[in-house]
Amino acid sequence: KTIASEISPNLTTCHDSYGRPDLLVNCCPPLSDEASAVPVDYQFPDSSKSGLRVRRPVHLLDHDYVAKYTKALTIMKSLPHSDPRSFSRQAQLHCTFCTGAYDQKHSSASIDIHGNWLFFPFHRMYLHFHERILGSLIGDDTFALPFWNWDNPESMLFPDICLEGPFVDSQREFTHFKHVVNLNYDGEMEIVAEGQEQVDANLAFMYNQVISAAKKPELFMGCPLYPGEDGFCNGPGTVEKAPHNTVHYWVGLASNPGRENMGAFYSAAWDPCFYPHHANLDRIWDVWRDLHGMHLPINDTVWLNSYFYFYDENLQLVKIKVSDVLNTTKLGYTNEKTDLTWLNRRP
Ligand code: C2O
Repeated sequence: KTIASEISPNLTTCHDSYGRPDLLVNCCPPLSDEASAVPVDYQFPDSSKSGLRVRRPVHLLDHDYVAKYTKALTIMKSLPHSDPRSFSRQAQLHCTFCTGAYDQKHSSASIDIHGNWLFFPFHRMYLHFHERILGSLIGDDTFALPFWNWDNPESMLFPDICLEGPFVDSQREFTHFKHVVNLNYDGEMEIVAEGQEQVDANLAFMYNQVISAAKKPELFMGCPLYPGEDGFCNGPGTVEKAPHNTVHYWVGLASNPGRENMGAFYSAAWDPCFYPHHANLDRIWDVWRDLHGMHLPINDTVWLNSYFYFYDENLQLVKIKVSDVLNTTKLGYTNEKTDLTWLNRRP
């Protein structure tokens, strides 16, 4: 029996999957769509003319930028589901990979990109194509997603942009939004701290998750997932556990069984503010790497060669490997530097 030497989805195997233990969902793309497409290998974009896309924090967005993003998202939401660039297909794509809808190549083991070392690279790929599609829909190849800079005291409230126009999602816990986000929210506790007290708790928590508790790659990146049934592992890294999971849970509507939309992975990417949330996680991956000097966080060929498929802005199916996404400059974007107050908030 062949054992794959990396993790990758077998695109002909998409099947129903569990969005919650009590909910069977089908997030698969329209029948045979991807299975019959011929993928090309990923190529780095040429940003020599346009320059890098610069991702900015949500609290510093100006009116023109918000108008651009609003227009791009409105167009994306108007595309039919048959179009892989459509918002619904983007949302479903996340669902397929977080519920195990695909089997791996040469195995009946499924793929889940949460709770293991594929978490950061997969979401980077996903946002990269999402961002390029948004830009191309408005003819702007410098368009960059914003990041919800929830680790910055200036940005610890739910973002204003998320409360307007196409960014609105009715399935959110609005009662939370007049409070400072609790980055270590456990879903049970109601508001325990207010204002500055919560800000300080968040800063100390960030220090812990990115510095003290994440000194080794496996602690930050998540457990090593290897191919096949025997390769399974479930152990999210520090930041994936929180603030990643906790912010998802804090945003989703508490009266929904899985705190949909944001609170459950199968539905999370239906909330337009999933993307700014993840852009911040993507940024924090690099902050961690720089602080600890881990430019090649994992030197393991299984991880480096694992690959996924995404449609690009030209409706071309692209095969992209983890090793392709370790340098954002090569991917054509950068994050604006923002305040890292938490760096001197060692608890
Ligand atoms: Cu793939 Cu925040 O989830």
